[in-house]
Amino acid sequence: MENVADLMAPRLMPELLSAAHAVGQAAESAGVQPFLVGGSVRDVLADCGATAGSEASFDLDIALCGAGFETFDRIAGVTAGRISRRSQFVTAKLQLGDLQIDLAMARAEEYPTPGSLPVVRPGTLHEDLARRDFSINAMAVSLGSDSWGDLVDLHDGVADLQERRLRILHEKSFRDDPTRILRAARYSSRLQLVPAVETLDSLLASVRFIDLVSPARVRNELVRVFLETDPSGAMELLSHWGVLQAIHPCLGFQADAWGRFATEANWLPTHARTSLGYAILSCGISESDAKGLITRLNPGASERRSIEEAVKLGRIPTPELVGSSNSGLARVLDPLSEPAVLGVALVRGGELGCRISYYLRYHRKLRPHLTGDDLIRMGVPKGPAVGEFLKRLRESWLDDEISSTSEELALAESLIRGLSES
Ligand code: CTP
Repeated sequence: MENVADLMAPRLMPELLSAAHAVGQAAESAGVQPFLVGGSVRDVLADCGATAGSEASFDLDIALCGAGFETFDRIAGVTAGRISRRSQFVTAKLQLGDLQIDLAMARAEEYPTPGSLPVVRPGTLHEDLARRDFSINAMAVSLGSDSWGDLVDLHDGVADLQERRLRILHEKSFRDDPTRILRAARYSSRLQLVPAVETLDSLLASVRFIDLVSPARVRNELVRVFLETDPSGAMELLSHWGVLQAIHPCLGFQADAWGRFATEANWLPTHARTSLGYAILSCGISESDAKGLITRLNPGASERRSIEEAVKLGRIPTPELVGSSNSGLARVLDPLSEPAVLGVALVRGGELGCRISYYLRYHRKLRPHLTGDDLIRMGVPKGPAVGEFLKRLRESWLDDEISSTSEELALAESLIRGLSES
């Protein structure tokens, strides 16, 4: 059996490595065999660890063989961690300082019908690996003290990683869990893998089962695509395989927008990035399709807003927006959320894309130098007039009618004079 301890030290972040040690020892003291499984094993072996920036694994999945219900609490007790969440699938989240570690009893799964949640029972390590999505995700590394680093690779995951192949473990894999189709797009693009012939055949034949999957499960995997460092390859595959269209017939691949996504969206926080993904998908679709999409994915309030606003903005003809003054454009865009506006800019591109990008960068946050209090001191009556004056001053900045503090002051004074004369 190959031992990969030498790869783990340089390729796992130090805090993950020491957490793996701590949980491994705690599990052994509870009489349970601990194994690192899932994405972090894959990333260690693919060398996507500490050096690969945001592509690296930031979490640990640990499978516990021979565990009982009490095992999680015993591990938490020994490591001075806290169990934050338990699920029906005999899994728990262990909070160790800032780290969250997924603990799970090794288990076997059965899917009663395509797309349904699995029925699980405690199982062996072999069963636990065999229930997984792809060979590259079906490897385990022992965290036991005498076997630290021993690799269990029953499905040739290492060979598949080396030969850049994505392969399911059994022919019903995608049918059992059609969300794996979206995962296939993500891994193919991120790790530059090519699906094996049988895997691709099975994938394409299973796209129709996506209909049977709950909104939350489809949405979760779709959002994980949006959160990839560069989602464009995965989105293209999803379109090419007919998956976007299976989620909702109105969806398509907006090549230019997704191509620009990585550079434009990398600075965005997770929730805005998610909303931006929805905005790109929705720009150009009809209001009734948007309703259907919202029903299908049931996203949260801000994502829903992003969809609705992108649809609304996407329906305004480009010449109308391009032809408007800066203040006119701002009047249309100010009430809309930033991800929706950026999404439409990415989809439309060209002159409108440039105008909107400029608006987002400079105009959206532009405010007059004078404050409401200044204006009141200068003689503007308290109440709605103050807001009106501020708006007028801002629009003058936007339309380059004024370009300095003294010009702003002069304009404010003349507006106030006009007020007292009227
Ligand atoms: N898994 C699976 N089928 C799914 C989801 C997950 O078999 N539909 C298994 C895979 O073995 C996967 C592991 O559960 O590696 C953990 O899943 P997840 O946390 O979603 O992904 P990671 O593998 O950690 O990888 P990444 O976050 O990089 O996608």
